[in-house]
Amino acid sequence: MTFEKDLLGIKNLSVDQINEILKNAKIMKTLLQQNNKKGPHLQGKSVITLFYENSTRTRLSFELASKYLSANAANVAVASSSVQKGESLIDTARTIDMMGTDVLIIRHSSAGAPHLVAQNVDASVINAGDGMNEHPTQALLDAFTMVEKKGKLEGLKVAIVGDILHSRVARSNIYLLNKFGAEVVVAGPSTLMPYEIEKLGVKAYTDVEKALKNADVVMGLRIQLERQKTGLFPSIDEYSEIFGVNDERLKLAKEDAIIMHPGPVNRGVEISSSLYDHERSFIDEQVQNGVAVRMAVLYLLTRKEK
Ligand code: CP
Repeated sequence: MTFEKDLLGIKNLSVDQINEILKNAKIMKTLLQQNNKKGPHLQGKSVITLFYENSTRTRLSFELASKYLSANAANVAVASSSVQKGESLIDTARTIDMMGTDVLIIRHSSAGAPHLVAQNVDASVINAGDGMNEHPTQALLDAFTMVEKKGKLEGLKVAIVGDILHSRVARSNIYLLNKFGAEVVVAGPSTLMPYEIEKLGVKAYTDVEKALKNADVVMGLRIQLERQKTGLFPSIDEYSEIFGVNDERLKLAKEDAIIMHPGPVNRGVEISSSLYDHERSFIDEQVQNGVAVRMAVLYLLTRKEK
């Protein structure tokens, strides 16, 4: 199985490539569960994270994934870097590239920023989230978690609820789940719903309860206030009342439905605190699976037989 130099989105990955990543993530998860979390897969490689937006899960899991596989891992702290002196994105990336970097992991507020960087560096570039476009490794870890809990993706009904408009997680998940024959429905206020979202092959609802009916997977999404210039809903309380997923609404989904959320979660807003801690909530496991999936991605992009 071959991979391109870069991982920029789910859109251009084949089903076989995604299956290869999920297969390797399963192996990586067994490594993670050992006392000595160390594999030789990235020995001698250098992995750099360059995040222009805040992150806890994605940045740290890439850093740990690199270290667990024996790479030299470093982070560029953008706030204290020469970016603050006016250095452009491409010049910053080229500078990092010249230091022997094998993999450059980038998060940026502009859609397409990782694609631009990829054209200008020799290192493999991984998109860790670009604006409202894609967050491919999130969708991969979500798929990994769904397969772990439900056995397969084909035929699953996945309800994604919340701020769909600003969500790169929603887009990457829609691309991936559609490739595998899952049924995806999205729900949220009409002001937080992308124009013609149905063209991506999903059903869209403004009534959360209709969307949740018979769902196998309920995925909550945070309201991305950082991407909103004007108020797109009246108040947090009203939002939670009308669109929040809670114990009562979960009853509309299948009785074995699982609860997921990419994080960070605003408890009591998009999902109730009790659902976060529910016995069928796998939000914490998504975080753990994120490390395994990112180990797999790093390995597959850097292995010799590309
Ligand atoms: N899910 C996700 O991307 O989380 P972080 O912003 O903490 O990386």
